Amino acid sequence: MSKRASAGPESIGHFFNPKSVAIIGASAKQKKIGYVIAKNFIESFKGKFFMVNPTVGEVLSCPAFPSVKSIPGEVDLAVVAVPAKLVTGVLEDCGEKGVGAAVIITSGFKEIGGEGVKLEEELVRIGKEHGIRLMGPNCMGVFDSTTMVDTLFIPRYRLKRAPRGNIAFISQSGASGIAFLDWAAGERIGISKFASYGNASDVDEADLLEFLAADRETNVIAMYIEGIKDGRKFANVAREVTATKPVLVLKSGATASGAKAALSHTGSLSGSDEIFDAVVRQTGMIRVYDWEEMFDIARVLAYQPAAKGERIAVITNGGGAGVMIADEIEKHGMKLAAIGEKTLAGLRAKFPPHVALRNPMDLAGDADNERYRDAITAVLADDSVDSLLLVCIPHTPGIDLESFVDVVIDSSRKNNKPMVVCLPGGRIAFEIRELFEENGIPTYPTPMRAALSLSALVKYGSLRSNLSCAKC
Ligand code: COA
Repeated sequence: MSKRASAGPESIGHFFNPKSVAIIGASAKQKKIGYVIAKNFIESFKGKFFMVNPTVGEVLSCPAFPSVKSIPGEVDLAVVAVPAKLVTGVLEDCGEKGVGAAVIITSGFKEIGGEGVKLEEELVRIGKEHGIRLMGPNCMGVFDSTTMVDTLFIPRYRLKRAPRGNIAFISQSGASGIAFLDWAAGERIGISKFASYGNASDVDEADLLEFLAADRETNVIAMYIEGIKDGRKFANVAREVTATKPVLVLKSGATASGAKAALSHTGSLSGSDEIFDAVVRQTGMIRVYDWEEMFDIARVLAYQPAAKGERIAVITNGGGAGVMIADEIEKHGMKLAAIGEKTLAGLRAKFPPHVALRNPMDLAGDADNERYRDAITAVLADDSVDSLLLVCIPHTPGIDLESFVDVVIDSSRKNNKPMVVCLPGGRIAFEIRELFEENGIPTYPTPMRAALSLSALVKYGSLRSNLSCAKC
C-alpha cells in the first residue's frame, strides 16, 4: 500500500519531519556507518525510531527488528545503510510496510556504471511502484536542526552540528556538504535544513528547492550541484523560488576534467557551463564559485535586508582600506554614494579638520567610538545612501574594543539599510568579527569579501524590485 498521495513537495516532508524512522543496517560496531546513524537518532531525534538488523537482538540498548515489516506501527522514513546488493530487497520490504520515504546512504549504483546502473533503475522502479520517495543512493541524507533528523554518518566529535538558523543547504556531494556544515558550526552560523541527495535517482535539486521555498524555517537556500537532472524543471522551479527567497548556487564540472570527475562521482552529466550561466541569469539565482564565497554570501543574505539600490557609503579609519574598498565596489558593479552636503556639513561641525568628509569617509587613525557613532548615524540617515560598508582597523588606540560592536549596532538600529563590516587583522580582529556575527552583522577580514557579499544584497534587491515592477 502506498503512503504517498503524490510526488509533490509535501512528500519531501517525510525526510525532514518524520514521526517515525527505521534505521536499516543499524550497527553496534563503532566504526560502521550504521552505528553513527543509530547514535545520532538516539542522542537527538525527537520522534520515534527503530533499529533494523536481522543479525542481532539489540543495537545500543534499543531492540533490533529483523526487518522493517516487523516494526509495530507506521514508519514514515527509512534510512538504509546496508550493502548495495541488499538494498532492493530492503526497499521491497519498505514498500510492503507503506514507508513514505527512504534515504539510501549506500554507494555502488549509477556512479560505478554497468551493473550499478541497472541496480539503481531497479530502486527507482520499486520506489515508484510503492510510492516511496527516494533520496540518494550514494548520499549523506538529511540534517534538520529543528526536528533533529540526522542521517549524517560523521560522528559528532568530528563534525559539530550547526546551530538552528535560517540557511538551508542542499548538496549533491556529501563531502562538500560536510565541509559547509563544519564551517557553519565553527562560525556559529545557523542552518535550517541540510540535504545531500547523491545520485538523485528520484528526489533531485528541483524537488528540494520547491520544498524549501515553502519552508518557514528557511530564508536563504544555498546549493552545490554537479549536474542538473531535468533542466527545464529546475529552471521553472528556480524562477518561482527566487521571487520569494534568494538562491545561491555553486556548480562544479565547468571544465572537461571537472565534468569527467562529476560523472564518476555522482553519475552526473555536467552540461555546458555557458547554458548553466544563462539559466542562472534568467532565473535570478546568484552563482558563486567556491566555498568561501558561498558561505560569505549565504550569511549576508540570511542576516541583512536586500539593498534598495547600488549606492554604497564607506566609512573607515584607514585610508588604504578605503581605497581598496572603492576599487572593489566598482568591480562588483556598485557605486560610491554621493553623500548629501547637509550630512557632510553636520559632521564637519563635529569632527576635527583632518577627517576626510567624502566617500569613502576617512575618520582617520585617531577615530574613537563616538566619531564612528556620529558618522554611521548621519550617513545611514542620508537618502542618497542605500547601504553602508563599514571598515574598522581595530588596532588603533582610539577604538574602545569592549564597546565598539554595541556602538555600531546602536547607531545603525534606526535604519533598515543593509550594512556589512570589513575588519582586517589577526587575533584582535577575529574576536570582534565573531561578536558582530553573533549580532547578525556579517563581518569580513578583506575588502574583496566584504564588497562581494554586499553586492549580493544589491543583486537580490534589484531582482526583487524588477519582479514587483513586473507585477504592477
Ligand atoms: N537489514 C538490516 N540490516 C542488515 C541486513 C538487512 N537486510 N542485512 C545485513 N544487515 C546488517 C549487517 O549485519 C550489519 O550489521 P552488523 O554491523 O551488526 O554486522 C549492517 O547491516 C551493515 O551491513 P554490512 O554488511 O556490515 O555493511 P557495511 O556497514 O560494511 O557497509 C554501507 C554498508 C552502506 C556502509 C556500504 O555498503 C557503503 O555503501 N559504503 C559507502 C557509503 C557512502 O560513501 N555513501 C555516500 C556518501 S556521500
